[in-house]
Amino acid sequence: MPKKNDAGAEAVESERASESQIAVHWREEDYFFPSAKFIGQANVSDPSILERFSESKFPECFKEYADLLSWDEYWHTTLDTSNAPFWKWFVGGRLNASYNCVDRHLATDRNKAAIIFVPEPEDADTEVITYQELYVRVNEFAALLRDFCGLQTGDVATFHMPMVPDLPVAMLACARLGVVHSQVFGGFSGAACGGRIADSKSKILVTIDGYYRNGELQDHKVKADEAIARALEEGVVVDKVLVFRRNPGEYASKSPMVPGRDFFVDEILPDYKRKLVDPVSMPAEAPLFIMYSSGTTGKPKGCQHSTGGYLAYVAGTSKYYQDIHPEDTYWCAADIGWITGHSYIVYGPLALGTTTVMYEGVPTYPDAGRCWRIAERLGVTTFHTAPTTIRTLRKVGPDEPAKYNYHFKHMTTVGEPIEPEVWRWYYDVVGKGEAVIVDTWWQTENGGFLGTGIPALNPMKPGSCGPAALGIFPEILDEDGEVVTAGSGIAGNICIRNPWPGIFQTIWGDPDRFVKTYYEKYNHKKGSTDWRDWPYFANDGAMQAEDGYYRILGRVDDVINVSGHRLGTKELESAALMVDEVAEAAAVPVVDDVRGHAVEMYISVKPGVEPSQEVADKVSRMIETEIGKVARPKNVWIVTDMPKTRSGKIMRRVIASISNFTDVGDITTLANPDVVEDVLHHVQSEKLARGELPRELSPAELQTIKNFGSSE
Ligand code: WTA
Repeated sequence: MPKKNDAGAEAVESERASESQIAVHWREEDYFFPSAKFIGQANVSDPSILERFSESKFPECFKEYADLLSWDEYWHTTLDTSNAPFWKWFVGGRLNASYNCVDRHLATDRNKAAIIFVPEPEDADTEVITYQELYVRVNEFAALLRDFCGLQTGDVATFHMPMVPDLPVAMLACARLGVVHSQVFGGFSGAACGGRIADSKSKILVTIDGYYRNGELQDHKVKADEAIARALEEGVVVDKVLVFRRNPGEYASKSPMVPGRDFFVDEILPDYKRKLVDPVSMPAEAPLFIMYSSGTTGKPKGCQHSTGGYLAYVAGTSKYYQDIHPEDTYWCAADIGWITGHSYIVYGPLALGTTTVMYEGVPTYPDAGRCWRIAERLGVTTFHTAPTTIRTLRKVGPDEPAKYNYHFKHMTTVGEPIEPEVWRWYYDVVGKGEAVIVDTWWQTENGGFLGTGIPALNPMKPGSCGPAALGIFPEILDEDGEVVTAGSGIAGNICIRNPWPGIFQTIWGDPDRFVKTYYEKYNHKKGSTDWRDWPYFANDGAMQAEDGYYRILGRVDDVINVSGHRLGTKELESAALMVDEVAEAAAVPVVDDVRGHAVEMYISVKPGVEPSQEVADKVSRMIETEIGKVARPKNVWIVTDMPKTRSGKIMRRVIASISNFTDVGDITTLANPDVVEDVLHHVQSEKLARGELPRELSPAELQTIKNFGSSE
């Protein structure tokens, strides 16, 4: 165990600090230690594991994860680097993900709950799906996909589904057939879904008529029509739309069913009753799914994940870091539409044969006690959520957890940096001082955790994700590729020196972008087949404390992290530019006490157009239509001109500083420095009038604002 912290010690500023290498004055936090009770039951408490996963044991160490799965055929090569950086794991191995998550548990756990579904309406019954029931549903739906939709191994199917059990059933049905699923977050707009259908060239869309959110039955099918229209504009025709119904026998949408294209699942499924579909034995490197994620430029990237490497990595990390035991009741309150849900609601927990809870709705519906009532009622042992949810629950119901009789042994935080005060509330109030917390840092691209402690071995440190996960060897590099040393108090770009089984295989249809975005920056030698030449550039800023723990500061590219959702500036700006009156648009992050960051848009209008609230509202609505409600800007500022470089580029860093009341820095090199003063005055006086008062920013927040736009 690392030695006790020198609490209160301040990081030392070094003269090497530059814009991208910020010296961070960060108070070191005290350690928190796991209880003896937790350690006594933990899956991993023997420090010899660190030796088993040491660098000299790489890559064979990951056999330990792969051995948690049932293989049809064992692999002959653990890691094939011949086409670096397109890594291949467990080559020669064959397995089926659906078999691993369902069939293999039947012999011992047929009647055990696999999924417990909690609908949002509190008077509705909880639905318990046993492993046997899951097996039946997955088989029937797989038969329907194969025989009614004509899907074959290697095809892609897009889902635009909310948090209902039909979603994991459909995912596992695809996995059974070797069909690649591409689930688009249900909260995204029809247009956003359509773009992803077109990119993946899916012929099949799986959706639902409606779902409950904040007490209302949302019309969701209407988005399918928009999605299909958008896909068509991009040249992709969807043959069939499968529509589940949220409430049997009712139709929650105003959108008519299109004959010959749209089909209610409950009407066709009876033809496939009692059908069994043999799981297709897939090569370990066959793709299991695509998950789209935003980047700096261009359209979202389809991150392609493998079958064997991915499943091994999520099973292993679920066991060692989530400390999942088969008898646990595990609740990850993320959405399956994000990578967290894929890995840590569906594939990881089900591969380990545990009980995974799915909640349909909003954590504060109908009140701030809802999550804790669910935890009490179901006897949840393990809880997993994001800082944005913790902040919300702390704000609206700081004393609620104490009113309920639940006891967590383990809690997770994921998706954004967590402020130490928020961490302490999570620990003291939600966890009642009894539960360990793992802060898990990773990304859509990574499949599973990269930075996090082993809960029984590594003490917790608020605001820090802890050391690297087993078999992960990070380094923090400066812009010149020099290593920034631990304990220097200097931040840099966090990279992972080695490949790992959960790493995505490529960007769907765009291998060049894959290499360019993640590997080109720090590649030592072009064409090398040695993995040591290919550090993975995570696009996050971080610093490492003397004890080896990492503190993640946030994105170094122009991605805005709103409530843990990654939104690309280019996507936001392109949407704003679709409004006729808009001439120029810039998206920047503004710190937000609940969501971490929110989006602010700056626009200028075309000559002859009067700036008006109406135009601003049109921009907000367009962003909602093109991307979804999550992206709705906090403010849309109409300005006469934007601060620009001499080459005409909008200086987002300057605008971001204005929005956040931070120092605008050196503006002498701008083409139009006078504009800065005008914009600053206009925006900040309006903000003050609206009661959006400035506050001191944390080091992580400051880093995001200072660096914003620097990736251009
Ligand atoms: C951020 C979510 C600090 C980070 C699993 C990363 C975090 C982006 C943490 C990925 C954490 C994720 N502490 N920051 N524990 N976890 N992030 O792809 O900036 O939706 O690059 O994956 O979220 O978001 P994504």
